[in-house]
Amino acid sequence: MKTLLFIDGCVRGGQSRTLALTERFLDRWQAKNPDWAVERLTLDAMGLRPRTGAEIERLGKLEREKSFDGPDFALARQFAAADKILLAAPFWELSFPAAVKVYLEHVSVVGIAFRYGADGETIGMCKADKLLFVTTRGGNYDGSEFECGWRQIVGLCGMYGIGEPLLLRAEGLDDVRNDAGALLARAGEEADALAETF
Ligand SMILES: Cc1cc2nc3c(=O)[nH]c(=O)nc-3n(C[C@H](O)[C@H](O)[C@H](O)COP(=O)(O)O)c2cc1C
Repeated sequence: MKTLLFIDGCVRGGQSRTLALTERFLDRWQAKNPDWAVERLTLDAMGLRPRTGAEIERLGKLEREKSFDGPDFALARQFAAADKILLAAPFWELSFPAAVKVYLEHVSVVGIAFRYGADGETIGMCKADKLLFVTTRGGNYDGSEFECGWRQIVGLCGMYGIGEPLLLRAEGLDDVRNDAGALLARAGEEADALAETF
């Protein structure tokens, strides 16, 4: 059975507009792909901690020994084995909540998610062909040099070997001049269309 890994970084849970948009996509996608398993990670409930210096040293030793079977690398193994990845997170401090960054620290294991080639280049080791990043933003940041969330995800997909990073976003939601409901409705229609092809 193929697996879609859903990483829920929507810290506000039931209040989150990003999560509501993502659930709309996922319901539609799952109806079209009933034979796929969905593995869901709710980052806010997981309480992952940032890597410490001592951990980096200990884990680096395991990486060099290629001892990848232990619980330290479970999240990385799961990420690398997923057939498709869905990542949902609101736009915070120009990128995404710290919980997402911490999760990515746990996933970015040399020897599982990627490796280094002879010339020092990164070579992706993840199986997924597509990663859909769903986000909502208070302001307008499409194409802005200050937008550091989607751009970071695109860069990491390159590192992980995930060939097709996709973005579903609604933005300008906290700008009082905008009709947030209408913007979300339009993004919802984009979610429905994406569910047909993802
Ligand atoms: C802690 C925090 C930081 C935020 N940082 C930004 C920001 O840097 N730029 C921006 O345009 N909106 C920012 N926002 C607004 C959110 O991006 C916006 O309200 C988004 O729709 C929230 O998504 P959610 O409903 O899924 O939580 C921030 C909101 C919070 C709570």
